[in-house]
Amino acid sequence: MGGPTMAVIAKRCPDVNVVICDISDSVIKAWQSPELPVKEAGLQDLVTQVRGKNLFFTTDLVRPVLEADIIFVCVDTPPKSCGDKAGYASDTCNFERAIRGIASATKAAGGAGTGRKTVVVKSTVPVGTWRIVRAIFNANGLEHSIVSNPEFLAEGTAVADLLDPSRVLVGSECSKAASQVADLYARWVPRDRIILTDTTSSEMSKLVANALLAQRISSINCASILCERVGADVGHVARAVGADPRIGKAFLRASVGFGGSCFRKDVLNLAHVCRSASLPELGDYWESIVQMNEFQKERFVCTMSTHMFGSLRGKRVAVLGFAFKKNTADARETAAAYVVRRLLQERATVVVYDPMVPESTVRAEVGGDEGASPLLTVAATAAEAANAAHAVAILTEWDEFRYPSEDASCAVDYPSLYRAMTKPAFIFDGRRVTNAEMLRKIGFVAYSVGSAAT
Ligand code: UDX
Repeated sequence: MGGPTMAVIAKRCPDVNVVICDISDSVIKAWQSPELPVKEAGLQDLVTQVRGKNLFFTTDLVRPVLEADIIFVCVDTPPKSCGDKAGYASDTCNFERAIRGIASATKAAGGAGTGRKTVVVKSTVPVGTWRIVRAIFNANGLEHSIVSNPEFLAEGTAVADLLDPSRVLVGSECSKAASQVADLYARWVPRDRIILTDTTSSEMSKLVANALLAQRISSINCASILCERVGADVGHVARAVGADPRIGKAFLRASVGFGGSCFRKDVLNLAHVCRSASLPELGDYWESIVQMNEFQKERFVCTMSTHMFGSLRGKRVAVLGFAFKKNTADARETAAAYVVRRLLQERATVVVYDPMVPESTVRAEVGGDEGASPLLTVAATAAEAANAAHAVAILTEWDEFRYPSEDASCAVDYPSLYRAMTKPAFIFDGRRVTNAEMLRKIGFVAYSVGSAAT
């Protein structure tokens, strides 16, 4: 998030010097090389245009901080993996270290009066974190202003989202600092899209935005289950309900389950915030969004097993797609990891094909004994994965998996997949990118999430 955001600021504000600091030497070297550490459409071009002009990279965490007027903190805040509230609360140790780093760098130089900085929190943090930041600064005699400026970009469309954001949120108790940050964005974002608010509301908005997006997916997935039972089609239902402008059509695609580094983490964090505020009912409400997602993933595996005569042991399953969504190599929290793990627990042989995700990531995300299992392999093509397979499971909506396809030259050839598979040849579409009727005409036994199997 930090790299693309700063590259866009450098591009849109040519008179502003932007310096990206990171403790990792290899990350900084990668940013200075032709192989950027982050793959995003348009990013390479953008960085090439501004690198060395007004965008610089360094592992020095002191001088750039001392020279800056505005400091953006963009470090990661993953879920806590151990200790109290593990899995729910955010692990803010990297974030706190960054804040303490700013404090010690600026303390030596005075840190008050003209040494006063605007510290902008872009990391997704628990509600109320700004008070902790202020306490650390105060305890060190520093008067830095704190601004909450959460980021709403999505992976794969980061540069486009940054260039044309739906809104920019600027929360602060200090109106001067808020104006300073708002003025920076106003160089390319229309003023009416820059929302000024208090710091706590800004921190809260980030968690609620992600919780509402995740909730839409869980709601449509909930509907998808009922659709299968009553003989309705969730695609038709989503279209019909999404046509109401009050509901809107975005984020109503039923799927095997949402993934990614944010949704689960932020929803559980919100649940944790509610419980910490002695509001357990609210915590349960938000957490049910994640529970529904878990149920959808497990249900997908059970559907496969039920259709395939109650046993997957010794059967070969081709998994098409492992990334948490298309056009990314990111597989954090991907539904595919859960499905693959469970298929291996059912003693199936699993062959994964994904156009971008490497084998090391597949094994790491599946994790445990299953991740290291010889029953798990990775193929270089969909055809190789499906060769002699009893079933194909589509778990990411890559364009090449679409059927019928808009571009046959790079699409999966389903008729030839069918010919190479063990019969009956099953196909389970967890992303609704194929036309089940047409697959059945080829000869497949086809199932699609949210459509009654015929
Ligand atoms: C999300 C938010 O969209 C973004 O605003 C926030 O800043 C970070 O978290 P991201 O994780 O990049 O962005 O992915 P997103 O496109 O939101 O998709 C998340 C997951 O939901 C993916 O697994 C995707 O496949 C799934 N999804 C999305 C659905 O299953 N159905 C939908 O209708 C939409």
